[in-house]
Amino acid sequence: MPADVIAIDGPAASGKSTIAKGIAKKLDAAFVSTGAMYRAVAWKAINAGIDPDKVDEKALRKVLDSLQMSYEPAPGGSKELMVDGQFLAHELRSPEVSANASKLATLPIVRERMAALQRAMAGRGLIVMEGRDIGTVVFPDAKYKFFLTASPMERARRRLAQEGESKDGATVESVAKEIEERDCLDMSRAIAPLKKADDATLVDSSGMQVEEVLQKILEEIKSR
Ligand code: C5P
Repeated sequence: MPADVIAIDGPAASGKSTIAKGIAKKLDAAFVSTGAMYRAVAWKAINAGIDPDKVDEKALRKVLDSLQMSYEPAPGGSKELMVDGQFLAHELRSPEVSANASKLATLPIVRERMAALQRAMAGRGLIVMEGRDIGTVVFPDAKYKFFLTASPMERARRRLAQEGESKDGATVESVAKEIEERDCLDMSRAIAPLKKADDATLVDSSGMQVEEVLQKILEEIKSR
């Protein structure tokens, strides 16, 4: 039986979280950002003094073994990722955490642990899960798969508009470069690289409003 999962994969800053959250709300489904999970690993690794360019495997294993993650009701009402008993919205969005997350996400030990956690989150009703490898590796049998993208400049503009997610003095060009570096690492890694699943529907959201993208995806879901 196909997994009760709507997989939304795509490159950095393609709007996956906004769209996945919107779809989950409209369908009364659970929402999981797997990017936030990799960011939580990076955040905890930074606090443990782990150098992402020269990883101490033993220290990283300790971080992974002690890392507690689950979606819990947050003060605003929605369910948010709780990491070691804290909601870490801002901490997880910093440029340093973004860059380190992509580096640590190339490591088998990290990916295996995240995929196991993500699979354990499913099975309790419909779930919308966004990331890079959800339709290809984590849930290759997902009921619905989408690959969301947008032009590099549009993605850079959207990222720049999100407060706290770019370095001080960042420009559209510098943010586009940072996004490109991360995409390059995500696409070229040996395990679970970023790519569209053969059976995923491609959605290019360049020039589209959030509501238009949501409608397009919902129509596709309803048409099956
Ligand atoms: O989606 P977001 O930008 O928050 O993800 C942060 C980083 O985590 C990505 O650049 C990618 O390297 C990694 N990631 C991943 N696989 C996923 C989700 C995120 O490798 N399923």
